[in-house]
Amino acid sequence: MWWSAKFRILAGCAALIAATTPSWPQSNDEAGAEPAAQAEPGKDEYLRHCAVCHGLDGRGNGPLANAMKIVPADLSRRSTRNQGTYPAAKIGDVIRNGGGVLGHGSTAMLPWGIYFSERGNPAVAKARIKALVEYIETIQEK
Ligand code: HEC
Repeated sequence: MWWSAKFRILAGCAALIAATTPSWPQSNDEAGAEPAAQAEPGKDEYLRHCAVCHGLDGRGNGPLANAMKIVPADLSRRSTRNQGTYPAAKIGDVIRNGGGVLGHGSTAMLPWGIYFSERGNPAVAKARIKALVEYIETIQEK
């Protein structure tokens, strides 16, 4: 029957979306429901994807740093280097579009925006980048 075939396709799509969509807190309520796992999504992203070069504390001394020609930036000094103001928009832009925007003529740092959006929808990618930008703000030296 036509409707049962249609239903099967719909159900298949729903299962696929459920299986491939990373689960991130969509609202504060949801974040509050699982405090241990999702309290700091930005920190989690950072430790997974960034610390290998930028170091656990953001100071640019991750395990890969010595093997690189270009020293990973000290992310904990972004506010200091910007007259005490955290340049959130710029940080977000580097994460989204890559190190080339720095004008160093370098693409040593890949554009993570592509990676993040390939694994989810654009809204999810945006939320993940926002969480990262906010997390890096918390590790600024005082
Ligand atoms: C493979 C090593 C590597 C990884 C992994 C990496 N970076 Fe970088 N990052 C660099 C290097 C090297 C630079 C300096 C690039 C340059 O000078 O052109 C840099 C520069 C930056 C800058 C610019 C800093 C400034 O002073 O303006 C930001 C912001 C940044 N990275 C954030 C991140 C975030 C967030 C992640 C994780 C999603 C990440 N990086 C992952 C190597 C890396």
